[in-house]
Amino acid sequence: MRKIAMLTSGGDAPGMNACIRAIVLTSLRYGLEVYGYKHGYNGLLEQEYLNLRASNVTNIIQRGGTILRSARCLTFMSDDAARLAAKNLDALGIEALLVIGGDGSFRGAHHLSQHWQGQVIGLPGTIDNDIYGTDATIGYYTAIETALDSIDKVRDTADAFERIFLIEVMGRNAGFIGLNAAIASGADQVMVPELTRSCEDELKNIIDHIDAVKRRRGNNSYIVVITENLWPQGVTQLAQTLTEETEIECRPVILGHVQRGGSPVSQDRVLATKMGAYAVEAALEGKSGVMVAEVNQQLSCCPLETSWQTQKALDPYLVKIQQDLFDLLKRP
Ligand code: F6P
Repeated sequence: MRKIAMLTSGGDAPGMNACIRAIVLTSLRYGLEVYGYKHGYNGLLEQEYLNLRASNVTNIIQRGGTILRSARCLTFMSDDAARLAAKNLDALGIEALLVIGGDGSFRGAHHLSQHWQGQVIGLPGTIDNDIYGTDATIGYYTAIETALDSIDKVRDTADAFERIFLIEVMGRNAGFIGLNAAIASGADQVMVPELTRSCEDELKNIIDHIDAVKRRRGNNSYIVVITENLWPQGVTQLAQTLTEETEIECRPVILGHVQRGGSPVSQDRVLATKMGAYAVEAALEGKSGVMVAEVNQQLSCCPLETSWQTQKALDPYLVKIQQDLFDLLKRP
């Protein structure tokens, strides 16, 4: 192999730059030419790319975002787009393409592999951690830290005013950030999709719990962490309902894209560096149609499709602890 390329696609995640750096340095160490397509799959279609050298990745390991930029390219799922991408990759002489992103990006990579003879390898990069087959995704640990930092701050004002706060975290349709940030912040309640069967039951559950906690603790400050997209009418409406039902002021806080930014924490930098280096070595071994994964600190490659075909479960022990603490808080 002489030429390898990469792109970052979908929601950016802290640690993507660390991963780009590792791919570039590992490729150069093996004597490969290394290219970076810009703006996700759009760069493949528009032949917007950079020939990357060590100097391009100096001083980026600590930076959030992605120097290659990112995008969601919905048109890429058409056969014409994949064929054009294949033609462009061949024209540049690329033999392996590394895709850093989440499940949408991996679906794109899989689609490309049906139209292109080259090797395709995915690297899980998303704050949501909703990729089956790997313990963690690049960016996930930083997102938890960012959410936690904000929840701690909200707790101060919640205590001062004895209010309820409803804090919405990202995760798309997965509760990894929500559950971990709730446990780490000592939140009173967490609402995540995996543990919510009926919104009505959940609402009643929270109101009863707030009532019991109020009687037990004698103050009214109460923190609920909730995953985005969970409450059908949105958290602002839920906060209003809670205010009316409990007669305690409830304020919504939507943390939003702040969770995608910032300097990656060490766990994300190390994970990204390991995965980036491993992906280049996997490409040199001829692997294709796979995702780089880390399970129990062991790197491996798993089939790309399983990353989205199988649903990743929350840590059952963490769920149990959260439930035990929730029950304990309301005891008289
Ligand atoms: O997948 C990462 C993520 O930040 C999700 O948590 C969130 O639902 C989504 O991307 C937001 O996407 P956008 O930035 O396109 O609004």
